[in-house]
Amino acid sequence: MSAEALKREAAARALALVEPGMRLGLGTGSTAKHFVALLGEKVRAGLDVVGVPTSEATRAQAEAEGIRLATLDEFPGLDLTVDGADELDDALNLVKGGGGALLREKIVAAASRRMIVIADASKRVPTLGAFPLPIEVVPFGLEATRRAVERAIAVAGASGTLGLRNATDNTPYLTDGGHFILDARLGRIEAPDALAAALATVPGVVEHGLFLGLATGAVIATDDGLVTLGD
Ligand code: A5P
Repeated sequence: MSAEALKREAAARALALVEPGMRLGLGTGSTAKHFVALLGEKVRAGLDVVGVPTSEATRAQAEAEGIRLATLDEFPGLDLTVDGADELDDALNLVKGGGGALLREKIVAAASRRMIVIADASKRVPTLGAFPLPIEVVPFGLEATRRAVERAIAVAGASGTLGLRNATDNTPYLTDGGHFILDARLGRIEAPDALAAALATVPGVVEHGLFLGLATGAVIATDDGLVTLGD
């Protein structure tokens, strides 16, 4: 089965968790896109739900699908968020932010009673870190922040290189919040809690892509069928 077909399978399983009246967090990325498309079909067939998008891209897609949208200020508590991940381990710790939407994704996930990750099997790893860890930073003081992030990574017992993410026109990639992203190529993250704590102390770091203790379940599509973790 193609990767896209596997992603759609995982999205379809997560869709079965959606009940009428739910307040949903809508994730970002190629896998979440399948979920939003399938949810749109249900909505057009009469399902009544409200969605909070985690990016401007997802907002545009959900609007086009006819899904009713709201803000977290209107609905600060959500029933269920369905989102993709760049990596997940068996403890449901994640790396996210490959698509640049980590800040809103984390705020929405933290506001949700359940967060279900949908992914194809390539995202499941024994140890996080092969995928570069996105770290969202404010543009002001970039070089000072970059050095402080390097120190924080060392304090957490990790090592690697940091690169400023560029957009296709070779200017710095800008997030929906107007921030930059530093991608940390660490190889392995042996102590994700320590790294998350260290990064949180750096002024100028807005958020990072380690999602620890946020996902409550996962649906992973493999060539041999669906594997579920957690709730
Ligand atoms: C967006 O910022 C990311 O967190 C995505 O959710 C993550 O990168 C997964 O994306 P794909 O489903 O496209 O792999």
